[in-house]
Amino acid sequence: MQDILLEMKNITKEFPSVKALSGVSLTVRKGTVHALMGENGAGKSTLMKCLFGIYSEDSGEIYLEGKRVKFSNPADALENGVAMVHQELNQALKRSVSDNIWLGRYPTRFGITLEGKMYSETKKIFEELDIKVDPRTIMSTMSVSDRQMVEIAKAVSYNAKVIVLDEPTSSLNEREVEHLFRIINKLRDNGCGIIYISHKMEEILRISDDVTIMRDGKHIATEKASELTMDRIIKLMVGRELTERFPPKHNKVGDVALKVEDLSARYANVDGVSFEVREGEVVGIAGLGGSGRTEVLETIFGLLTKKSGKLTLKGKVITNKNPREAIANGFAMLTEERRATGIFGILDITENTVISNLSRYRLAGLFLNKRKMHKDTEWSIGAMRIKTPNKNTKIRSLSGGNQQKVILGRWLLTEPEVLLLDEPTRGIDVGAKYEIYQLILELAEKGKSVIMVSSEMPELMGVCDRILVMSGGRLAGEVKLGEDGRSGGDIQEEIMSLAAKYV
Ligand SMILES: Nc1ncnc2c1ncn2[C@@H]1O[C@H](COP(=O)(O)OP(=O)(O)OP(=O)(O)O)[C@@H](O)[C@H]1O
Ligand SMILES: [Mg+2]
Repeated sequence: MQDILLEMKNITKEFPSVKALSGVSLTVRKGTVHALMGENGAGKSTLMKCLFGIYSEDSGEIYLEGKRVKFSNPADALENGVAMVHQELNQALKRSVSDNIWLGRYPTRFGITLEGKMYSETKKIFEELDIKVDPRTIMSTMSVSDRQMVEIAKAVSYNAKVIVLDEPTSSLNEREVEHLFRIINKLRDNGCGIIYISHKMEEILRISDDVTIMRDGKHIATEKASELTMDRIIKLMVGRELTERFPPKHNKVGDVALKVEDLSARYANVDGVSFEVREGEVVGIAGLGGSGRTEVLETIFGLLTKKSGKLTLKGKVITNKNPREAIANGFAMLTEERRATGIFGILDITENTVISNLSRYRLAGLFLNKRKMHKDTEWSIGAMRIKTPNKNTKIRSLSGGNQQKVILGRWLLTEPEVLLLDEPTRGIDVGAKYEIYQLILELAEKGKSVIMVSSEMPELMGVCDRILVMSGGRLAGEVKLGEDGRSGGDIQEEIMSLAAKYV
């Protein structure tokens, strides 16, 4: 067939303790979006890293436009028309946007870097893609989503024929996702092949032409997106029918635990926010990207500087000036950008699990209770079905979703009075989400309070007792759940209209 752009045949890849890929094949047609789906640890990123020259496959063949290729490194892949945007951004944060785009291939004349050309070329690509970022901006000052866009622009700047996007939308808001989809459609019209990895079912069905599903390092099926349904994808991914998406709720809401009064942030979009959270209650925070939903959590936790506001925990006024103080006061927070703030890549899973609450494991003096550490780590691995050879595996070698689970387990183990969760199931597959919801609800059943920010409305409606809606940095209103007579659709509509109140 002449319209085949990329063919990967029988790719096998074994790591010291895991067979990550066993004979996986993938065929991408010209001018199409090919989705790659599968549970955390199924082998999606590994397959793409073999294509991109990061890993060398043990066996198998790769053909690009009919020609056999084997890239020895990413630079080689880029030069030959294959680009990849990674699941975990890996950028030079102290450098500018255009530095990041041209790193390793600066336009030069007589050995001198042509700054002006770099700037104008970057600007041209940004204009073409409608990205509103000044190429001179220093990366560290930008939001995760803007940095993601820079990464995508970089792939485009290589005029790649095949572009791999590994969970590109996990940190994008609704508007940015639409923007990305416009870019993808443009690339598709130009004849590119896009390989799109995501756990977001709705997106997959909307944007892709073909869908390949993997499970445990094997190819399970490739089908036309138009012939697939969500239920069928889940069944192929998980290998069984998933009847319930949310666990039953048994938490009992008690007295007021945390009182937040007139909370404002000095340098962020949080303006006079007041609310209460009760013992045993799970409160959701909804809102559009940029509404201040993340910032509310960060201000409570002391990550952002308060301008005003009063926090009272069980009748006692507290300040939470910084995260250390917040943790001492019984708070824990799972941040949105876990790679920067949560993962200790060179440590193993046990160390990453226990690091936030070493005092829990302290015996006499400086000795740590190794047995308890290992027991807790095993709980974490079991409760969230973390896919790993053993608990001494370096966290860096886990799949993206499994890294997330380790970090979440760490915070759950601290048994905080108030648990703050920012997008707790981002990057986590459908099957494992259920387990995470269950753990959140178990914490509530023990009388603890949970506040969770999520951009997935079904998730908020399935797990929370009520939902606060943020809009333009202010609290726009509250939506009660569990009242009879209202459908999910009605509730979603109410949330949406509140979210638009101050924008
Ligand atoms: N460098 C490595 N060393 C050892 N094992 C690895 C390495 N990279 C990946 N693995 C293992 O290979 C398997 C597949 O991982 P991969 O990252 O490809 O999963 P994935 O499908 O991308 O999952 P996710 O949805 O969580 O991102 C996992 O069991 C993972 O732990
Ligand atoms: Mg991955």
